[in-house]
Amino acid sequence: MKKFLVTANWKLNGSYNFINKNIKIIKKINHSLKYCQLSISPPYVYLHYINNLIKNTSISLTAQNVDIHLKGSFTGEISVNMLKDIGVKYVIIGHSERRIYHNEDINFISKKFVLIKKYNLIPILCIGETEEQRKNKLIEKICINQINSILKISNINIFSNTIIAYEPLWAIGSGKIADINEVKKVILFIRKYISSLNKEIVENIYFQYGGSVNYFNINNFFKKKYINGFLIGKASLTMKNFIFLIEKIEKNLYLLNRS
Ligand code: PGA
Repeated sequence: MKKFLVTANWKLNGSYNFINKNIKIIKKINHSLKYCQLSISPPYVYLHYINNLIKNTSISLTAQNVDIHLKGSFTGEISVNMLKDIGVKYVIIGHSERRIYHNEDINFISKKFVLIKKYNLIPILCIGETEEQRKNKLIEKICINQINSILKISNINIFSNTIIAYEPLWAIGSGKIADINEVKKVILFIRKYISSLNKEIVENIYFQYGGSVNYFNINNFFKKKYINGFLIGKASLTMKNFIFLIEKIEKNLYLLNRS
């Protein structure tokens, strides 16, 4: 059974104080989890420190970014090997905040995807549409373009053991979660597209949803097994809320697995 992957994307937040207090709390709840698997994505500078704190637990580390180069004169960048060195398992790429504020385009993101896989880390590829693109019914086109751009420099096998996070831009940080039926439609569409190229590969892809996930709005997401995880921003920063949210996810997964 695939465990449900909850990734806490802390973005540009955190401090030693925040980490020391909260990793203890996360480790405690992690003990009791049967269906959920937790991953923490702090800013780069805290990855190594957190890696030491979560040793001997099932909690994993996710990096928020990586460079496309392995070494050399690239001031300010971090390579896949460096991430591996400090115990990182997953790398978020294609997040809309990087596409918007750092002008990362689909070709650049595709290069990252291929490199991350080549060095045996797991990419979390974020794909999602703006409100405008949604109105213009461009969601499918956006997904296809990103997938095809990766296929242009690699082949369909590259998608094995990867994560695709559907994150509508209008839902990120807005308090408006997407409707589960729309999420389901997008995920089924991506599944169908990849499966038309290779039926087996699609079974090895995790599909996460991200965008304003919180304790109050997730119930509908567990009516059926459409998604394999959440990418959570804001709600992962207040520990009391985050713990309630994890408990609720775990309870819903228990019920779903019983039915
Ligand atoms: P949010 O962020 O949960 O605050 O909407 C999600 C994300 O950006 O991954």
